[in-house]
Amino acid sequence: MVVAHNHRRGDPGPTGACKVAPSVLSADFGSLAEAVGEVSAVADWLHVDVMDGHFVPNLTIGPPVVASLRRHSGLFFDCHLMMTNPGDYLGAFSDSGADSCTVHVEVGGTSELVLETRALGMRVGLAANPDTPFEALEPFLDRVDLVLCMTVFPGFGGQEFMAEVLPKVSRVREAVTARRLSVDIEVDGGIDPANAERAAAAGANVFVAGSAVFGDPRPWEAVERIRAAARRKPA
Ligand code: DX5
Ligand code: ZN
Repeated sequence: MVVAHNHRRGDPGPTGACKVAPSVLSADFGSLAEAVGEVSAVADWLHVDVMDGHFVPNLTIGPPVVASLRRHSGLFFDCHLMMTNPGDYLGAFSDSGADSCTVHVEVGGTSELVLETRALGMRVGLAANPDTPFEALEPFLDRVDLVLCMTVFPGFGGQEFMAEVLPKVSRVREAVTARRLSVDIEVDGGIDPANAERAAAAGANVFVAGSAVFGDPRPWEAVERIRAAARRKPA
């Protein structure tokens, strides 16, 4: 039973707090509101994977679907724009109810994209692929609310977690801490309870999970397992 929510924007929660963001990419697109409804009570964010068939070899959803989901969920909509030209769509995402838009540093124009996202009243995210070095992110850390360290190459759910990205996560965390910045650090790709614990130990605090959540017959329990693991992070 999906309870229609009002059009309120989602609450991102305290920066730095442990958050789980189920990715819609692994949900049943034929009953997306139902799937989102199954995790809305336990998830912190909803990770919306937008793919344009250019930046990544896959094509998913855009503002019309975000607008529909907005009518069914009050979650914080964390939109991951895997697009060559995200600037052309930031207004449409804001109008559709996106709470945050994350663009990839690889597409360039980051300074303008960051300014425009913020000018539209959304939180600002910046993503880096596994093979993009920390140095590419570094100049923008004081201008964003979220850094997304991809732990798979973007385009598909269900891929293997790439642990070699964790040193980059730690470097982002060290820089954010040293400069006293208010930035959430998100990992995305292949996340399950085991590697969520490792990613948390490296410094991540937002955990995107698609197949580990929506591939589970009881997705709400999968969310709780990932949160418990992330909070366990070894000393
Ligand atoms: C991949 C997407 C990820 C993906 C996560 O391009 O950005 O958000 O959907 O799915 P899993 O958790 O199955 O790797
Ligand atoms: Zn994503």
